[in-house]
Amino acid sequence: MKHLISPLDLSTKEIDDILELAEDIEKRPDKYTDICKGKKLATLFYESSTRTRLSHEAAMLNLGGSILGFSSSDASSAAKGESVADTIRTVCCYADIIAMRHPKEGAPIVAANYSSIPIINAGDGGHEHPTQTLTDLLTIRAEKGRLDNLTVGMCGDLKFGRTVHSLIHALVRYRNIKFILISPEELRLPSYMLQDVLVKHNIKYIQAEKLEEVMSELDILYMTRVQKERFFNEEDYIRMKDFYILDADKMKMAKSDMLVLHPLPRVNEIHPEVDKDPRAIYFKQVQYGVYVRMALILTLLELI
Ligand code: NCD
Repeated sequence: MKHLISPLDLSTKEIDDILELAEDIEKRPDKYTDICKGKKLATLFYESSTRTRLSHEAAMLNLGGSILGFSSSDASSAAKGESVADTIRTVCCYADIIAMRHPKEGAPIVAANYSSIPIINAGDGGHEHPTQTLTDLLTIRAEKGRLDNLTVGMCGDLKFGRTVHSLIHALVRYRNIKFILISPEELRLPSYMLQDVLVKHNIKYIQAEKLEEVMSELDILYMTRVQKERFFNEEDYIRMKDFYILDADKMKMAKSDMLVLHPLPRVNEIHPEVDKDPRAIYFKQVQYGVYVRMALILTLLELI
């Protein structure tokens, strides 16, 4: 049985297969409406979410399955002090697959150790978010036509942004990817990511502080929110929260075919005036998130 805790749990071939399946689901949704009949997805969300929880649920419903779960730890027995291990052993009696989000890094690994059904990590603290990565890869592949030969700008909170960490893990496996890491000094990519992932794999990267200075080089701009909930004090967050604001003027500096992605939610880092720019594809990205999670559920349940 397979779990998805990190993008590294999937080989490049398995990722490609999931993306291909997601593309087929987009083209021929009718083919898939009943495949999960009788199957249940449990969404165990110990941390807030809009897209990740609802897209997993929409994915299972689109496949003809059913859903159950909780959307905050207060609404579960975690509030009474129950351990993740005991909750997982319980939910295994009710469901066929689990998508779980938790504020603590590593919680989904603990869950996997106690689970008799597949666990999908729907975000663990500032660590990883593999289903967002599958969404990002599908979006880039569908809208750009390739996953290699790209200069990818990652902008914002590279320290705590789990979507950034997981996407880097996945993209380094493709040919000729160059990263431009754009952040304030205090929110730079953690050194374990720099050393163990970028340096180790001989990946070209530069670190920059000003978005304007690198804008013209980018094929992809991956914007991120400053992760308020992971800061130790409010003052630091307030100082950093509006460090980057992508607006129409900055978009003028970019290539005509550069694409802007954002895992969402956005706060101030993308001005709403950018939304009408055809290069802004973050709401299309949301739709791809449903197709790719449908493909993932089918793959983990071995129904395809
Ligand atoms: C991201 C997350 O939860 O890490 N959101 C998402 O899942 N689409 C990004 C964020 O919260 O900033």
